[in-house]
Amino acid sequence: MSLFIKKPIDSLMAESADAGKGMKRTLSAGSLVALGIGAIIGAGLFVRTAMAAAENAGPSVTIGFILAAVGCALAGLCYAELSSSIPISGSAYTYTYATMGELMAWIIGWDLVLEYAVGAATVGIAWSEYLNNLLVQVFHMNPIPYEWCHSPFEHSIPDAAGIIHSGMANIPAFGIVALLSLLLIKGTQESAFVNGIIVITKVVIVIMIIILGWKFVNPANHMPYIPASSTYTDHMGANHHFGGLMGILAAAGTVFFAFIGFDAVSTAAQETKNPKTAMPIGILGSLAICTVLYILFAHVLTGLAPVEFFRTNGKEASVVAAINSFMPGYAWLAKLVTVAILAGFSSVILVMLLGQSRVFYSMSKDGLLPESFSAIHPKYKTPYKANLIILVLVGLFAAFVPGDVVGNMTSIGTLFAFMLVCGAVIILRKTDPDLPRQFKTPFVPIVPILGILVCGAMIFGLGLENWLRLIIWLIIGLVIYFAYGAKKSRLRNPDKY
Ligand code: ALA
Repeated sequence: MSLFIKKPIDSLMAESADAGKGMKRTLSAGSLVALGIGAIIGAGLFVRTAMAAAENAGPSVTIGFILAAVGCALAGLCYAELSSSIPISGSAYTYTYATMGELMAWIIGWDLVLEYAVGAATVGIAWSEYLNNLLVQVFHMNPIPYEWCHSPFEHSIPDAAGIIHSGMANIPAFGIVALLSLLLIKGTQESAFVNGIIVITKVVIVIMIIILGWKFVNPANHMPYIPASSTYTDHMGANHHFGGLMGILAAAGTVFFAFIGFDAVSTAAQETKNPKTAMPIGILGSLAICTVLYILFAHVLTGLAPVEFFRTNGKEASVVAAINSFMPGYAWLAKLVTVAILAGFSSVILVMLLGQSRVFYSMSKDGLLPESFSAIHPKYKTPYKANLIILVLVGLFAAFVPGDVVGNMTSIGTLFAFMLVCGAVIILRKTDPDLPRQFKTPFVPIVPILGILVCGAMIFGLGLENWLRLIIWLIIGLVIYFAYGAKKSRLRNPDKY
């Protein structure tokens, strides 16, 4: 049978309707928006905004945010059409199976591991860094020893006694991943409730920084808004495009990470009440709210401090450093921000873990992964074995791999998935024109083609090293597919099931 065998839409719909055996439908459009914001606002906003301003664009990082948002919105319009017409767990994986066939579906499913599992590990590692910030700044305690909050591939700069410390394992990063995985096993509804509380906290903090910080904005820091084009060399000796159009493009690539996650909403389609209308609202609503908040936040942050400040101060904790230095009387806000960031990162990890387990669930249902990935807990009705396997995988990544290695892999994997989703919309319109579509992507094929181009441009901007990482990752995936999935696929072996 063909490697390009397609999963019939009818059988996807039948699976969706088979609610008795499946998961509980508990999520409303409102909880989907919360789920989206929970996945979106995180390390990208609180860490990468200052980084992009310092290294690439100065105040015009706001324009970088707009560009990245345009790419996400184009892909988001495509996600919304597919998730409202194929409301099944599995997101881009499922859409690709129905439109481009099994091999491409496997490739995208494997690629989504980069977005969700590797992304969760990336944010877990950032969480660990902020935990130390909390211990030292808020509780005035000693930080966790370097050895136990860094991977074995990292070492410190010499301390006061001239000693260089080497990492052993990032225990806090492992711990937060394990804790949130167990929460997910307990149940999506409960997880969504906890997530809702965190989302409110984090949105309130972002709004507080915008409103309270506004009066401390020094217009001189916004001049010139788009710096003249030049090259900036950082303390590690790396060169960055700074200023001009290239600076803005590079900043867009850097802050793209801040938008990753809105598509995770689509992975929960099977647990959503009335997915046909709730899905587009969930995906596009969360994206729109975050875009507005990001632009205002970036405007205030770059107005508080000059670019040179972000090159030398704070790095990971740049927002806290800027508040402490340029907003006298607001030390309490800096502490609150640290707490909110920890909570905010937690909700990002939660949604990414949720997305990963649902993609594995779908792949296992199709026979491309072992059955244990789709085993549903008799009481909690969640794919608990998938959650446990992911706990181990993501936990090991978080404990033993440096954050910078996994960060850009998350971005390139996500951009690749976005491009395939855009392509799937065009194909499905041709192959299945009569499929009921509650939400239709406007101006097809222009919108999907523009989505492919904008995301492709961001992939181009991520550079050779990351392209190679993506290619190697996909080759490993293909080996697994031909060794296992191609032989066990339900679609290709109907007589065995
Ligand atoms: N958008 C998520 C974040 O910024 C991945 O942390």
